[in-house]
Amino acid sequence: MVKDQRGRKVGGGERNFLIGFSCNYAAAFKLITTALLLLLICTCAVFLQFLPTYFSPFSCSTTTSAETTTASPPPPPPPPKDQILENGAIKRWFNPYGSGAYNFILMSAYRGGPNTFSIIGLSSKPFQVYARPTYTCQYENSNNNNDSSSIVKAYKILPDWGFGRVYTVVVINCTFPNNIANHPSATSRLILHAPSNDGATDSIVALTEPPNSWSPSNFISPPKYDYLYCGSPLYGNLSPQRMREWIAYHVRLFGTKSHFVIFDSGGIHPEVLEVLRPWMELGYVTLEDVREQERFDGYYHNQFLLVNDCLHRYRFDAKWMFFFDVDEYIYLPPKLTLRSVTDSLQEFTQFTIEQVPMSNKLCLNEDAGKTSKKWVIEKLVYRNVKKVARKDRKYAVQPRNVFATGVHLSKNFEGESAHYHTTEKLIKYFHYHGTIATRLDTCQQFLNESSTTIGDETPFVMDTNMRLIAPIVKKFELDTIGTILQSTKQ
Ligand SMILES: *[C@@H]1O[C@H](CO)[C@@H](O)[C@H](O)[C@H]1NC(C)=O
Ligand SMILES: *[C@@H]1O[C@H](CO)[C@@H](O)[C@H](O)[C@H]1NC(C)=O
Ligand SMILES: *[C@@H]1O[C@H](CO)[C@@H](O)[C@H](O)[C@H]1NC(C)=O
Repeated sequence: MVKDQRGRKVGGGERNFLIGFSCNYAAAFKLITTALLLLLICTCAVFLQFLPTYFSPFSCSTTTSAETTTASPPPPPPPPKDQILENGAIKRWFNPYGSGAYNFILMSAYRGGPNTFSIIGLSSKPFQVYARPTYTCQYENSNNNNDSSSIVKAYKILPDWGFGRVYTVVVINCTFPNNIANHPSATSRLILHAPSNDGATDSIVALTEPPNSWSPSNFISPPKYDYLYCGSPLYGNLSPQRMREWIAYHVRLFGTKSHFVIFDSGGIHPEVLEVLRPWMELGYVTLEDVREQERFDGYYHNQFLLVNDCLHRYRFDAKWMFFFDVDEYIYLPPKLTLRSVTDSLQEFTQFTIEQVPMSNKLCLNEDAGKTSKKWVIEKLVYRNVKKVARKDRKYAVQPRNVFATGVHLSKNFEGESAHYHTTEKLIKYFHYHGTIATRLDTCQQFLNESSTTIGDETPFVMDTNMRLIAPIVKKFELDTIGTILQSTKQ
């Protein structure tokens, strides 16, 4: 301590120490011994070569405190050693660290009637495929201090069977006996009992209902919207101009009793938001930020998860629900309206819509030099007519009869699905693949011919059905939201 005070008084450092050393060997020896001791205690031995510079207990105490603040969690116990068992076998061990995927990730739960609920989430795909867990649902009800609870076996749907990645989508249908869950005045909780890999069970509160938060009429009254669009997750550097064209086109087509649910998985950057905003302000668009789902590796930014959430969230709000992408445009032949088409398909729970694949490169000679200002449906007029075994499809459903949904169709519903030959003359969708996630004008080749064959013998024919609608959509946009989007960027 003496040395310490002395060192501090004179300012410490190498020079003073050396002076002290030459004046008094004994003192210096003591000094060095103490210093070494301190250094050893403080495990500063590594700095021994810098003895003079580090001659100060401060360096040690700082080191010590730094050590305690950055202390990492204790290492896991060493794996047990192999041992010889009584029967002569060598006992081997398996030592797990961390976990590859969650057993269940809850996205949402919705009441789907007086006695039924759906729970939507993700689950480890190998766990679902190989362990095939089954779930139970518990409904807890507290009504005038009369508590009751009921447990049922859940009905599990895996709507993306075959498509999942690390995670697969699980839709859990909890349906209780008739007199159990049907008291709106009760405070209630829906609990999902989800088995996990190691034999344990997680009890997850999926839904809490305050008193009178629902009414039986919710499930039988006429829906608010005729048509509701459930989008796919949007990500990447999307073109604001393409989004502008798509939303104007479909608001016009779907009409005033329609609504659009758009999922932002990172694609709704500020310029795209600007394009959606006027339609959000008019109440046509709901934007949901689902960027968080990127943490969980599922098929196509968890598209199956989001469409199932959309189905159940808006199930009683719309007569028809449509599922397609923002590079796809629903097309009805002249003289037909969406209402006349859906009315004629009323008896079906689902109808599929056939794709019309369009070239994203071939444009008209007369448009050359002007295409950057033209809308996609205007300038891309060559239809791919190559024969394929099966054309891609998108679809629409009457959601009240649907329990889970997919990307190209639903397989979990009550009722009939219209066959393709019923709908082919009524409704189609034009697909402009690869036009939405690029900020460039995709026109690359300019033609006059009414038909052509490109590259690997893919035949194209001119199709101006959509081109003819473009001016009507532009006028609709102008009449509805004014000039606010006129200078939107590609
Ligand atoms: C659950 O399944 C039953 C039977 O298929 C169905 O009646 C009910 O509507 C479904 N519930 C939900 C919330 O989808
Ligand atoms: C409590 O609830 C049960 C089941 O819902 C019912 O049968 C019973 O009559 C209720 N008791 C009272 C005191 O309300
Ligand atoms: C297309 O027609 C224009 C006149 O409209 C003509 O100038 C041009 O040469 C033609 N191009 C081709 C590739 O036939």
